Order: sequence, then structure tokens, then C-alpha cells
Amino acid sequence: MKIRSPIVSVLGHVDHGKTTLLDFIRGSAIAQKEAGGITQHIGATEIPMEIIENICGRFLDKLEIKETIPGLFFIDTPGHEAFTTLRKRGGALADLAILMVDLNEGFKPQTYEALNILKMYKTPFVVAANKMDKIYGWQTHQGESFSQTYAKQPANVQSALDNQVYELVGILHREGFESERFDRVENFARQISIIPISAKSGEGIAELLTMLLGLAQQYLKEQLQIETDAPAKGTILEVKEETGLGTTIDAVIYDGIIRKKDTIVLTTQDDVITTKIRSLLKPNALEEIREAKKRFKKVDEVVAAAGIKIVAPNIDKVMSGSPLRVVRDDLSQVQEEILHEIDDIKVDTDEMGVIVKADTLGSLEALVNMLQEMEVPIRAADIGDVSRRDVVDASIVTQEDDLHGVIIAFNVKILPSAAEEIRNTDLKIFQANVIYQLTEDYQEWIRTSEE
Ligand code: GTP
Ligand code: NA
Ligand code: MG
Repeated sequence: MKIRSPIVSVLGHVDHGKTTLLDFIRGSAIAQKEAGGITQHIGATEIPMEIIENICGRFLDKLEIKETIPGLFFIDTPGHEAFTTLRKRGGALADLAILMVDLNEGFKPQTYEALNILKMYKTPFVVAANKMDKIYGWQTHQGESFSQTYAKQPANVQSALDNQVYELVGILHREGFESERFDRVENFARQISIIPISAKSGEGIAELLTMLLGLAQQYLKEQLQIETDAPAKGTILEVKEETGLGTTIDAVIYDGIIRKKDTIVLTTQDDVITTKIRSLLKPNALEEIREAKKRFKKVDEVVAAAGIKIVAPNIDKVMSGSPLRVVRDDLSQVQEEILHEIDDIKVDTDEMGVIVKADTLGSLEALVNMLQEMEVPIRAADIGDVSRRDVVDASIVTQEDDLHGVIIAFNVKILPSAAEEIRNTDLKIFQANVIYQLTEDYQEWIRTSEE
């Protein structure tokens, strides 16, 4: 039995500062090498508790959880790609999340999208209102806590910040969440904390990390306990070619242990496959990875929570966002479970309804959920590019029900044969790489079509 680090994903609109925040935290970690430094993972960074205690200081005094968890395991979700793949059975891969908002820009399409996904998976989260150093007249106090730096700002700057925070409170309220600036929150179970920060100067990061640990303490008692000898469970982040290695999969392991030579069960678009691990790889320390062949080191085993690269035969058709399971002697049971896990996402389809296509299981699930919430009937929901068959399918619907005879496609291409078929019809296709945008566009189109 072991308590693993909570998995924290950092979500938000492009350029709102997700990576900069992690860079600041990593930088503090690297600067304090004697404290143990940080652990590099595939797609993730683990920050040990000593580093967090150094950043947060006395703020952590009242939190007991600092004694039990080894640290925080951060997943950065670049652009709009990765975060919809961050799922596991029955919910999000992340135990906690930071919703990153540039407080000068406010909510943007991907901020709404991230919020919708947090709502869907019921993931506890805090809002980081970033780039507060860009408020007109702000006086930067490198690395200070929010309370210290705020007290030193002129009154007009303080009220400019407060106004921006209240804008966020207003938007969150319209989206169904009660929130407050973290130091004015009265009920942490009912209100979301907003922490103004500057990822660049580090101001406010002490309180941000403290609030995250507070959430961990409040919500994550059982789910962090893992059996260190149980067969691993994980989620595929990415399938990619690596020079000298061939096809590899990057995965986050959230439970159990995975060993070199283990047999694993994975899924492709239409099959459950079994393969044997050839090597397990972890990234080397940051200084060493410039030399390509030194980028990874072989390891014999890893225990959750961990990010790992896996080399194995026959894995090129494995889907991002799909589950990974280590099997010992229960192959048929694991295969069965994994099939259920995939089936959970595929919907009970209606005869007449829209055709939904998406790039990953996670994004398909999110899109289907949002459409179901809007009470839109769905005829088919699948992963992959828009094919001729999808067009034919949608055209059949159009003949009887033109508002639902459409294709809604997230982050996928339209295959040439499909494009040709579309030219013969006047079928409507909605295509975007922001889920929220797709559902908005479709609603807007229905509104104008009905007029
Ligand atoms: P994607 O990964 O592309 O979605 O973006 P991101 O959210 O990771 O944003 P990133 O950290 O790359 O930051 C985008 C830009 O904003 C960079 O130029 C950062 O230097 C800048 N930036 C981030 N945080 C701050 C901040 O607190 N203050 C200021 N002034 N600039 C910031
Ligand atoms: Na960026
Ligand atoms: Mg980034």
C-alpha cells in the first residue's frame, strides 16, 4: 500500500500561461537541488513535497496532507490537443485541476471547454487568474505570496485586480459555479477559489499550491491509495515514432506497477490487442536530453503515479485516450473490462440523429456528453476522419429530419472520398478543434434554420 501523488492537470486557453506556471515551479525545484529536485516523466512533472513546502512556507502549517502525499504530479496540456485524452474509466485521469485564465483576457473558447470537461468529470479545481503583473501600474515583487504583493500595490491597482476577479466570478456564476477570490471564500465545498497569480514572477503561486493541497485533503482520501504490486492501469497519451525506437506509446500510469516484459492489453479503433513490453523508458534529466540517444533511460519497473514511454510490437494503431492494462493471469477478464470501458463511451444511438466524429475517446466522450445535455439525438458517434459512409449516413437522416442530418466533427479531417460525396449533396458539416465551438455553432445554425 502506498499513497501516490495527486495527478493535477493544468487546463486553459492557448497562451494563458499553463507551461509558464510549470516552468516557474520547476525552476524553483531546480534552483533547490539539495531538496531532491524534480522527477521528469513522459508528459508530466512530479514536484516533491519539500519543494512545495519551500514555496508555500507557513501556508501549509494547517494542512495534514503534506505529511502523507509524496508531492504533486502535474500534467501540462499543450494547446487544445491533449486534455480531452486525459481520461480513465469513470472519469478524468486528473484528480485535481488548475483552470488557467489570463485575467486580462478573461474566458476564451477553450476556457469554456475546459470548464465543461471539469464539470462533466466532476473534477475538483481551482482557478488561477494569471498575468496579474500585466495590470496597469502593477509593481512586481518576484516570488512573493499574493497577500504580500497585494498589500504593497496602490489602491487603484488593487481595485483594478478586484474588478477583473469579479468579471471571472460573474462568468463562473453564469456557468453554474459559485466562486470567490480564495481569501474571501467562506465555504470551500460550495465555492471555487480564484487565485490571482503571475506565472512569470511567481507571485501568488504559494497560495495556488496551498489551495490545491487543500482540495486534495478535502476530496482525495481514498483515491490516492494504491497497491504497489497490483497490475498497472493507465491511459495512453500519445502514440508516436521515435528515431531508433520505432513506434512507442506514452502513457500515464495511475494505479499499480508496470514492469519490463509485462504483457499489456490495449485498444485500437476496432480491436482489443495484447502485446509484450520490450522496453520501459523514462526521460533523462533536462540537461542530458539535448543529445538524442541520451534522451531516455531504460527502467525495470515504475509505480503509479508515473508517466512512461513503452516500446512494444504491434502498437501503431493504439488510440490516444484509450486504456492500458497490465495482465498477469486474468487475460480474458481484463479484455472484457477494457471492452466495457470503450463501450461506455459509445452511445445508445438513435435512428434519426447527428453523426459525431472525433479524434480521441476522450474528446468523443466530451462531445457526446455535451450534445446529450442539449438533447440532440445521435445516430452514430465514432473515432476517426469523416468518411464517405458518414456522409451517406447523414444524408439519409437529412431526407426526413434536416436539422439533425449533419456531421459534427472534432479535430478530424474530411477524407477525399467524403469530400466528393458532399459535393453532390448540400450536407452541413460542423468542423472545429474546440468542442465548445462546435456545439455553439450547431445551436446557432439550428436557431437561424428555424426562423
Ligand atoms: P499553450 O501551451 O500554447 O496552450 O500556451 P500556455 O498556456 O502554455 O502559455 P505559455 O506558458 O506558453 O505562455 C504564453 C505566453 O504568455 C508566453 O509568452 C509567456 O511568457 C506569457 N506569460 C505566461 N504567464 C505570464 C504572466 O504571468 N505574466 C506575463 N507578463 N506573461 C506571461
Ligand atoms: Na503557448
Ligand atoms: Mg503550454
